[in-house]
Amino acid sequence: MAVRTTKIYEDLTTQVIALIQAGTLRCGDRAPSVRQLSRERGASAGTVVHAYELLQARGYLSARPRSGFYISDAWRTTDLQQRASSPPRRPAKLDVSELVFEVLQAMRSRELVPLGSAFPGPDLFPLKQLASEIGPSTRGLHQWRSVEDLPPGNDKLRRQIAGRYLAAGAHVLPEEIVITAGALEALNLSLQVVTDPGDIVLIESPSFYGCLQAIESLGRRALEVPTHPTTGVDIDEVRKLLGQHPVRACWFMTAFQNPLGATMPDAARGRLVRLLAEREIPLIEDSVYSDLYLDDERPRCAKAFDKHGLVLDCGSFSKSLAPGYRLGWVAAGRFAQSVWRRKIMTSVATSIPIQAVIGDYLSRGGYERHLRRLRRDLGLRQNLFLEAMQEYMPPGMKWTRPAGGYLLWAELPPGVEAIQLHRLALVRGISLAPGPIFSANDAFHHAIRLNYGHPWTTRTESSLRTLGTLIRQTAGG
Ligand SMILES: Cc1ncc(COP(=O)(O)O)c(C=O)c1O
Repeated sequence: MAVRTTKIYEDLTTQVIALIQAGTLRCGDRAPSVRQLSRERGASAGTVVHAYELLQARGYLSARPRSGFYISDAWRTTDLQQRASSPPRRPAKLDVSELVFEVLQAMRSRELVPLGSAFPGPDLFPLKQLASEIGPSTRGLHQWRSVEDLPPGNDKLRRQIAGRYLAAGAHVLPEEIVITAGALEALNLSLQVVTDPGDIVLIESPSFYGCLQAIESLGRRALEVPTHPTTGVDIDEVRKLLGQHPVRACWFMTAFQNPLGATMPDAARGRLVRLLAEREIPLIEDSVYSDLYLDDERPRCAKAFDKHGLVLDCGSFSKSLAPGYRLGWVAAGRFAQSVWRRKIMTSVATSIPIQAVIGDYLSRGGYERHLRRLRRDLGLRQNLFLEAMQEYMPPGMKWTRPAGGYLLWAELPPGVEAIQLHRLALVRGISLAPGPIFSANDAFHHAIRLNYGHPWTTRTESSLRTLGTLIRQTAGG
């Protein structure tokens, strides 16, 4: 009897999963009632409920109080590959391919539907208001400010930035903030300060191509950590790799990771910081999207757990306020002085008028209001985008539902190759970011990164329909 019950239970779950993956049962549909199924399958109601609870845990069903079970699409995230990759366990010098430049160059046209873009829609930024403030903020600048605002940078701006860390759970002093030309310079300077040529740096897999390029151009060696598409780097793997290799630094993005959209749970982030602190290993944290959380609560930043000044938190206003202004910073902990000396050697200073404009803007207090609107708009765009993905992408395709930022990672069906898809889509006026540009070893041919942060228009919707058709055709061909 017990064997028969187990068999019914297993058959039932397998069949419901198959129906959902094939698109026969669709998100929002009501699942067959427990009573009906138990009658039809000759199983007890308890067996059916047990099967439904398992399907619920795996994201195929959701329960609504007093209404029963409904089909859910959360499985697309929970059933993503447990690791986005299984990278080689040895450090490597990198040779980031021409492909990155080819893809970036192709995305620059205004005519394309920018699903491959690394920026949210320009309509989301208060650019007119900032432009009107350039005059007043710069006219009154004393001529000595070109000297006084040399690195580490404009005092008012650094105080404003330091104060904003409170919301992310960290106590940061203005003295440890160094103003830079965007986050990318902050990340590069940090890497130069905490490592030497030939040193091993732990990175995520997949990772932002700017990270791969920095490691390549500075002659460091990258060691990739398997990274989960929703929960980020695998700490057990980090521990193992630290035991096997003389790692000098980590470069991670623990919230809303580009390209996966993954976010480490706060507790795991704390464990990571403590693990690295035991070995005095600095963590370079890329936090460019940290203000773009879509849930009610903002994740705590790695710096919130940093008791030894070992975390270098690199941020910017490029994705949240003023993309073209090239204004960023690093909260560099114990490395602050070395970073600002390196900054002087590299580029003398960050534009002094631009530092003044953003310092004034922040001190007037409109930034938090702008961010609330920005997050609400990104959340709405994400919902519309995911609904359309559900509608137009072929059954069995999976994607992440990030808790912040504006980028998601989608796994293609077997037989579809990301670079080929990128080229086919370009011909049809659609850009996308193929997985291999985020890889140090030619991986991720089965995945693409998509941007949901641009205005939702009929053109966006029809581009997703076209993309879905291309994927179906390529998978079939
Ligand atoms: C993950 C990530 N980090 C860093 C950067 C660079 O930021 P910034 O433009 O402020 O230099 C980008 C920009 O695309 C990014 O996507």
